[in-house]
Amino acid sequence: MGPPGVGKGTQAARLRKELGVPHVSTGDILREAVQAGTPLGRKARSFMDSGGLVPDDVVGDLIAERLSRPDAAKGFVLDGFPRTEPQVMSLDRVLERVGTTLDRVLSLTAPEAEIVRRLGGRRVCPKCAAVYHVDTKPPVSAGVCDACRSALVQRPDDEEAVVRQRLAVFFEQTMPVAALYRQRGLLREVDGSGDAETVFEALRNGLAAP
Ligand code: AP5
Repeated sequence: MGPPGVGKGTQAARLRKELGVPHVSTGDILREAVQAGTPLGRKARSFMDSGGLVPDDVVGDLIAERLSRPDAAKGFVLDGFPRTEPQVMSLDRVLERVGTTLDRVLSLTAPEAEIVRRLGGRRVCPKCAAVYHVDTKPPVSAGVCDACRSALVQRPDDEEAVVRQRLAVFFEQTMPVAALYRQRGLLREVDGSGDAETVFEALRNGLAAP
């Protein structure tokens, strides 16, 4: 977990490779649904475009379905869920049903100015969801995805006013989730302000720490 743009998706993709388990990102699943124009996507779109959260029951159902699939039986990296206290309760119920528990909750932190800089320069591939940054992770050919050659775009919710709203929502609704997992002894805070390699090492240490 962590504020928008702190590097959750970047690091979760690395953890997925390292651990050999699926990377389950509610943001990615919702964006795919929006792009495909499914009923879920139509419901989610206005919340996402304004920087608000999609209703808890919608996201809870989506996670329940995703974690019941066979590939999640050996473990998973959750990215961007849970983000509210009701979502924590809903995750508790799903985990009980599938017979597993959380090992760790890793919370990435970075100064707000760094977050705004990262989101301002982020470019994404609308086809394969690869993530770039114009300064820190540029594609080989400017504006073109290295993996699938599609034209890169800016996410609509990376517009500055929407970023400010997403940050406000994070502090108001998601920070209490961190407190809850701290009480349960699962939370490890990780400094997300260094380069991607340094942050990954810190995350690994956070996973291994008792
Ligand atoms: P979501 O997609 O989860 O957005 P977010 O939490 O705002 O996080 P981001 O994807 O913006 O950033 P990130 O932390 O993954 O950073 P990234 O690695 O890309 O959710 C989008 C929306 O969906 C929400 O607003 C909400 O509406 C809805 N939603 C999702 N989950 C929900 C839920 N559970 N409940 C309700 N609604 C939900 O990195 C950012 C940039 O920085 C990139 O360009 C990257 O290359 C660069 N970068 C990364 N790390 C570094 C580094 N160490 N140094 C330099 N640059 C870096």
